Formats: sequence, C-alpha cells, structure tokens
Amino acid sequence: MKILVLGGTKFVGRHFVEIAIKCGHDVTLFNRGNTNLDLFPEVSKIKGDRLKEIDKITDNYDIVLDTSGYFPENLKYVTSHLKNKVGKYIFISSCSVYDHTNQDLESFTESDGTLVNLNIDHTDDTPETYGARKYLCEQEVKKVFPGKHLILRPGLIVGPFDPTYRFPYWADRVSEGGDVLAPGEKDAPLQFIDVRDLVEWTLRVAEEDLTGTYNLTTPHQNLNLEKFLNLTVKTINPNAKLKWVSEKKLRDNDVTCWKMLPLWVYKEIQGFLKVDSSLAIKQGLTFRPIENTILETFKWSKDIYKAEFANEALSRSKEAKILSST
Ligand SMILES: NC(=O)c1ccc[n+]([C@@H]2O[C@H](COP(=O)([O-])OP(=O)(O)OC[C@H]3O[C@@H](n4cnc5c(N)ncnc54)[C@H](OP(=O)(O)O)[C@@H]3O)[C@@H](O)[C@H]2O)c1
Repeated sequence: MKILVLGGTKFVGRHFVEIAIKCGHDVTLFNRGNTNLDLFPEVSKIKGDRLKEIDKITDNYDIVLDTSGYFPENLKYVTSHLKNKVGKYIFISSCSVYDHTNQDLESFTESDGTLVNLNIDHTDDTPETYGARKYLCEQEVKKVFPGKHLILRPGLIVGPFDPTYRFPYWADRVSEGGDVLAPGEKDAPLQFIDVRDLVEWTLRVAEEDLTGTYNLTTPHQNLNLEKFLNLTVKTINPNAKLKWVSEKKLRDNDVTCWKMLPLWVYKEIQGFLKVDSSLAIKQGLTFRPIENTILETFKWSKDIYKAEFANEALSRSKEAKILSST
C-alpha cells in the first residue's frame, strides 16, 4: 500500500511507520522536520506544517494515517485538500471524547450520547478542551470521507518512546525497592494499550476494508490497580513492598492523581478507565502480556525517566513522610 503519515516520528506514528516499512509498504512522512529528523532515512519525506502547508502533498495514496490532528478547523483544511488524493482516512482520536464524570454507565461504548461538553472555543489549545476538539476533528473526517474513514479512540497509550513518562514511573519506583506507596483503592479500574498492539492492529485493519469508529484499550474487566502493581513488583523487583494509602489521606497531603502518581485517578473521574473495546476485539485486536509492556518500557526508560519526569512525580522524601505517618 502507498501510505501517507501526517506525523510519524515521535511515538504512535513512529511505531506505525516502523512496522509499515517492515511489512513492505511504501511510506511517505509529512511533518515539519522538528522531531527526530534522522529517523527513517529510507522513506520519502515531505517537509511542511499541517496548519498552513498541506498543499505540499501532491501525490495520491491508498491511506493516510493522521496522528497529529488536534483542531477541527485544521482537520477541515487538511481533509479538503486530501479528499481526492487518499482512499481511506485513519484518524487517531482518543477515549478523552467521553464524559468521564458520568458515573451512571458500566462502560463507554462508541455510541454517542456520552460525550464531553462540545460547546468550546475551537481554537483553545488547553488540555481541558482536548477531548471535545478530538471529537470535532472526527466529525470533519467523517464529513469529507463518508464510508472511507477509520476513527480510532485509544485509551492511555504506553510503551517504548512514550513522551509522557507516565507509565515508567511504577517500574522505576519498584526497582528501587523498599516500601512503595500504592494509591487509593486496590480495585480501582485501570486500562491502557501497548503502542505496539495499537499500531499492529491499525496496520492490519488499514489493509482490510474495515471502516468506522473503534475504542482501543485493554478490557476494563481484566485489570485493576492492585493487579497491575503486583505484576510490576513480580516483574521488576519481588523485594519491593506495596503500602496502600487511602485517597483521602493522599488528597489531604496534596498528592494529585495522574501526574504525581500516574495511572491512578480520583474516584469521581474513574470513568476514564472504563472504556469498552469489544468492537475492536471482534475485529482481531489483541493484547500482549502486561509483564512484557512493563519490562520493555522499563528497559527503554531507565535513564530518560530520571532526567525528564522526576520533578512532576511524587518525591521519594514526600512518599516516605506519608508512609511513616500511616
Ligand atoms: N499518549 C496517549 O496516551 C494518547 C492517548 C489517546 C490518543 N492519543 C493520540 O495519539 C496521537 C499521538 O501521536 P504521536 O505524537 O505519538 O504521533 P507521532 O506521529 O509519532 O508524532 C507526532 C508527529 O507529528 C508531527 N507534527 C506535529 N505538529 C505538526 C505540524 N503542525 N505539522 C506537521 N507535522 C506535525 C511531528 O513532527 P514535527 O515536530 O517534526 O513536525 C511528529 O512527527 C495524538 O493524536 C493523540 O491525540 C494519545
């Protein structure tokens, strides 16, 4: 297949390009050349900014994978240019399109009616409007590529080259051993998808006739925070001891969820981790063992985590102070 990737050099796109090349596809990258410029010397590259230079794309392609779309106006601009040049538009959206504060649902399916508030300023680039913007981007793709689109809504994406360093925190902390602060409720929901499972499935369905909208994340029935942390201890350092501390105590000590203690969310937004991927599973989505994701991300992140993320995570001294008062 002749594949155009809008992006392709950081994390999700990077993994996709790697396997697409391995599988013998003819890949072209469109990006500004700011991120990992030296990657993939063997593929065609078009240097341009998707916000104003999409007309630099002049060829025709079987599919486009769009990993870098965040603004509805930009999707209107990009899709109108690619309309007659591309057979299928694959847009990487997000499970953030759902209203995670909705406590009434067992889980979120792809059907509408459970969305975040879409009444936003379309140009606002803050994280608060991210989910709504992604949904509105999806609508632009659907309008221009009716019946010829794949809208993919991954949950938290993890694995090597993750630029956020959210996932490596736990393996890194556990590797140091001792008493490890484990946050909140043991049965708190937890979902994510290994980037390699995500891109392998995406390439496979891109080669087939599949179209439509799909959630992509591990089944929420299979995992919880305790199971994940136990697996991390078993895989990385069986001598580490988990010490559970209640959400109330953590909040009283100004410990915030997600960035300070990644993969843990406050009870009122746990809907974020209750997304139903059964449609994609019916279409062949599979998940590698979590131990594999833990170990390989740990190996990759060992140095990077300490350099880039230490300031945002719970400090070891604050952790020790909370544990000593428990
Ligand atoms: N991380 C998660 O947990 C998560 C969860 C759900 C969904 N998602 C979605 O997954 C996607 C993440 O993709 P990624 O960043 O890993 O993809 P990627 O394709 O590996 O990297 C981003 C690419 O976009 C290019 N780019 C950025 N701005 C550009 C512009 N204005 N014009 C042209 N190219 C531009 C960058 O290159 P240059 O800088 O050189 O231009 C880079 O190649 C996003 O759509 C995100 O919403 C992420």
